[in-house]
Amino acid sequence: MNILVTGSEGFIGSHLVEKLLNVGHKVKALVLYNSFNSAGWLDHLKNNKNLKIIFGDIRDENFLLENFKNIDCVFHLAALISIPHSYVSFNSFLDTNIKGTTNILNASRKHKVKKIFVTSTSEVYGSAQYVPIDETHPLSPQSPYAATKVSADSIAISFFKSFDLPVTVLRPFNAYGPRQSARAIIPSIIAQVLNSKKFIKVGNIKSFRDFTYVDDTVNGFICALTAKNILGETINISTGYETSIKELIEIVKREIGKPHLKLIFDKKRFRPGNSEVNRLLGCNKKAKKLLKWKPSKAGLRGFQDGIRKTISWFKVEDNLKQYNSNTYNT
Ligand SMILES: NC(=O)c1ccc[n+]([C@@H]2O[C@H](COP(=O)([O-])OP(=O)(O)OC[C@H]3O[C@@H](n4cnc5c(N)ncnc54)[C@H](O)[C@@H]3O)[C@@H](O)[C@H]2O)c1
Repeated sequence: MNILVTGSEGFIGSHLVEKLLNVGHKVKALVLYNSFNSAGWLDHLKNNKNLKIIFGDIRDENFLLENFKNIDCVFHLAALISIPHSYVSFNSFLDTNIKGTTNILNASRKHKVKKIFVTSTSEVYGSAQYVPIDETHPLSPQSPYAATKVSADSIAISFFKSFDLPVTVLRPFNAYGPRQSARAIIPSIIAQVLNSKKFIKVGNIKSFRDFTYVDDTVNGFICALTAKNILGETINISTGYETSIKELIEIVKREIGKPHLKLIFDKKRFRPGNSEVNRLLGCNKKAKKLLKWKPSKAGLRGFQDGIRKTISWFKVEDNLKQYNSNTYNT
């Protein structure tokens, strides 16, 4: 299949592109235009003959219309994703996450793309009102980021209902693994523990997340490619197991062999009270049924295994040096 991936140079996108190439697809990877000619986490794949990298911007509909010819399927992952940044820069979130997604849908419609997968996030649910959170759980965004993702999801489903556009919304819970940006909690903790002798800086450690190893997240996307009866559906990609941030820190400290490190609570790292999402634990029954997918790393053992793999990647000097553990990255 000819598959276009947006957000392809990012954390989840780069793993998805690798996997799509490995299973024999031709991939057109949209990378956010930049003057360094950097393809981010796809730089090592630049010579792959089945990969075509295009530099552009999802906010530019004209660019998309030019590039969607002869595309069978689109995985749309491009987004601004930092919650702290969304508190101050919400117009760029509106432009990228809402208008950008609408542009993707319009270009897909115009070029009769056969399958479009829009990437949502568990943040759209807000703190769990019941657990596990299934797809009928109320949507209650607690940050501008989450609000833009609710809008993007709604527009995607409205295009299915209004124009028969073959769209499916895939809704990952917190992904983690190699290449994740320093803004996320797991890379931030691992990089600090590896680099520190006495303490690490943290924010709220009381919240719970359903951490999903990135290979599992990506396998969910791959399963969606051939799944039947999923048009117009929204599907959680989660493990059904939750871990508190406190426990996560203990696991990382133990695995790295620095159990003595103290925690320093850093005001900057807390979200405003009402914006704090206390608990996200996803129900994955629908994914199991419709996508015939299940996570390979589930439960405490699966999580410890995923963390171990992530730490091994971070321990490689060339990888670790890309993470500045002294600053708070938003
Ligand atoms: N990482 C997670 O835990 C997680 C969880 C749930 C959902 N998601 C969703 O998965 C998707 C990918 O997230 P990620 O963690 O890989 O983030 P990421 O920041 O690594 O990747 C996002 C990519 O989008 C690109 N991008 C941003 N603005 C763009 C624009 N205007 N035009 C073209 N490209 C643009 C960025 O360059 C980046 O490479 C996002 O839609 C995010 O909301 C992520």
